[in-house]
Amino acid sequence: MRNKLVAGNWKMNGSIAQNKALLDGVAAGFAALLSSGDTAKGVQCAVCVPFPYLFQAQSVLQGSKLAWGAQNLSQYEKGAYTGEVSASMLRDFACRYVIVGHSERRALYGESDAIVADKFEAAINAGLIPILCVGETLAEREANVTEQVVARQLDAVIVKCGAASLAKAVVAYEPVWAIGTGKTASPEQAQAVHAFVRNKIAQLDGAVADGLQILYGGSMKASNAVELLSMADIDGGLIGGAALDADEFLAICRAAQR
Ligand code: 13P
Repeated sequence: MRNKLVAGNWKMNGSIAQNKALLDGVAAGFAALLSSGDTAKGVQCAVCVPFPYLFQAQSVLQGSKLAWGAQNLSQYEKGAYTGEVSASMLRDFACRYVIVGHSERRALYGESDAIVADKFEAAINAGLIPILCVGETLAEREANVTEQVVARQLDAVIVKCGAASLAKAVVAYEPVWAIGTGKTASPEQAQAVHAFVRNKIAQLDGAVADGLQILYGGSMKASNAVELLSMADIDGGLIGGAALDADEFLAICRAAQR
């Protein structure tokens, strides 16, 4: 049985003062949720914060059961890459996760499938767990090419790093049309793509496919989390807007408990 993972993606939001209340609130609430057992009945929880706040996240969350991570990383190890942040720097702040290939990075910052695969590899090599984002735009869904798009995005990583590398990773299905729009994929729509992802990987490595956590992202909130998380292949959520409110985020963590 796979654990559920509820991961917050704060995107470019927050301040030292705001984060303090949010991190304290989430840490306290998650600790309460855990009081019945070490694994919170199969739920893991993490927050991916902007780079400048990694130290703050580490300071507040170390010793708690909450993990933290970043939203991006450089594909390069070090050197003349002004403004970039390497995997080893993220390790310095004890990050467990790093989001790779978020659709906003792909669309706004020109991250191709090849760059995303390089970043995935950099994360794996450093011992970080990449949360690899895949998903189609509205135009692609309407053109009935959702599976081709998701397959292409996965294949870039599989060709470069091998299917076995997915044993050390998480995949997040985030339909672009559902992100920040209030339009959620229906549980059936999401499940269909999640099953497609798992079956595709199962053709290469059954054990990796069985163990792989596949998260759904796109306007997930407390009010729709239960039905999404009850689907067979939805193993958690990558939460944007709702991760900025401790009560809402914790309600999603509760919904993920078995
Ligand atoms: P929203 O939950 O705000 O739709 O964002 C989803 C997302 O992009 C998480 O990475």
